Amino acid sequence: MNDKKVTVLGGGVLGTQIGLMCAYYGYDTTFWLRSESSIERTKPKIERYSKLMMEDLTKAKALVGNPMGAYVYPRGMVAGEWKDITVEKIDAMLEQGKKNLAEKIHIELDMAKAVKGAYIVIESMSEDPNAKTEVYTAVKDLLDPDTILVTNSSTLLPSMFAEATGRPEKYCSLHFANTIWKNNTAEIMSHPGTDKAVYDAVVDFAASIGMIPLKLFKEQPGYILNSMLVPFLSAAQGLWANGVAEVETIDKTWQLATGAPAGPFQILDIVGLETAYNINQMKPNAHVEGTVENKIGTLLKEKIDKGETGVNAGKGFYDYTK
Ligand SMILES: NC(=O)c1ccc[n+]([C@@H]2O[C@H](COP(=O)([O-])OP(=O)(O)OC[C@H]3O[C@@H](n4cnc5c(N)ncnc54)[C@H](O)[C@@H]3O)[C@@H](O)[C@H]2O)c1
Repeated sequence: MNDKKVTVLGGGVLGTQIGLMCAYYGYDTTFWLRSESSIERTKPKIERYSKLMMEDLTKAKALVGNPMGAYVYPRGMVAGEWKDITVEKIDAMLEQGKKNLAEKIHIELDMAKAVKGAYIVIESMSEDPNAKTEVYTAVKDLLDPDTILVTNSSTLLPSMFAEATGRPEKYCSLHFANTIWKNNTAEIMSHPGTDKAVYDAVVDFAASIGMIPLKLFKEQPGYILNSMLVPFLSAAQGLWANGVAEVETIDKTWQLATGAPAGPFQILDIVGLETAYNINQMKPNAHVEGTVENKIGTLLKEKIDKGETGVNAGKGFYDYTK
């Protein structure tokens, strides 16, 4: 086993960001994707997020010495405390980071090759229990005996899949937040069968890729972040679907009243409307005509069918092409 090899299953919004952070910190990083068309979809994301990461790090140089910089610098990319950061240190990070991003990323369609010898395999497939089970079933006999397997699932519990992985003791959740190079939280959640040593190793791995590990003591649907964020975003979508107010008004209300930098629909555009839709459709009421969840599902589907899936597509609730 190579303790510097990481494999990411899935090259979507989060899978790409996770892989890039691993590569940035020097891990030999392989994306496993299922088809040539997945490669065509993932490559532009790798380019886009690499560019954003490097731009944010470059911009941080102008903030050096400014205490307010501590609130906006890309925390996941800068090791150490903000007060100790110098322009020279950021230049060195930029140079090493660019080199790593250019040299350490691989894309592989052959699952066996992709996972062979990996220290850790990070599953970041669609938020669909069937897709995840399918992938665990396919990968379980291909993994090295000691490889750790984690899921980045936002809403599904690791105990749902522990048996399907064939290695319940080496499996737990490692949950990242979107734009992970800035919002560098990593929630680590075991299921009752996770080995304590594996849990601790996942905590250390998260720290080694610039994350702040947040430990959960028990399984909690939605972890800490989404236990708060999902109801918040659902409430905003309910206001929209019921025609109470316009998207812009809802966002403005939240921002002005709380001082938050983004409103719920700006957050939804970053998360991606497919993920929002998948989460909504898991609610039983989403399939009951006349309920607000059903209306939300219909409206989100209309936008998804038009290709308006969020920032990545150039348009979601807002237009990013202008
Ligand atoms: N988007 C977010 O803000 C966010 C934040 C934290 C965690 N997550 C979690 O990360 C995971 C991925 O989310 P995302 O936003 O990157 O999704 P996404 O839709 O952008 O990407 C999903 C990826 O899975 C692949 N895929 C789907 N079904 C597959 C199958 N059967 N076989 C092979 N590949 C398949 C797709 O091709 C794509 O590469 C989910 O579990 C989600 O809950 C998402």
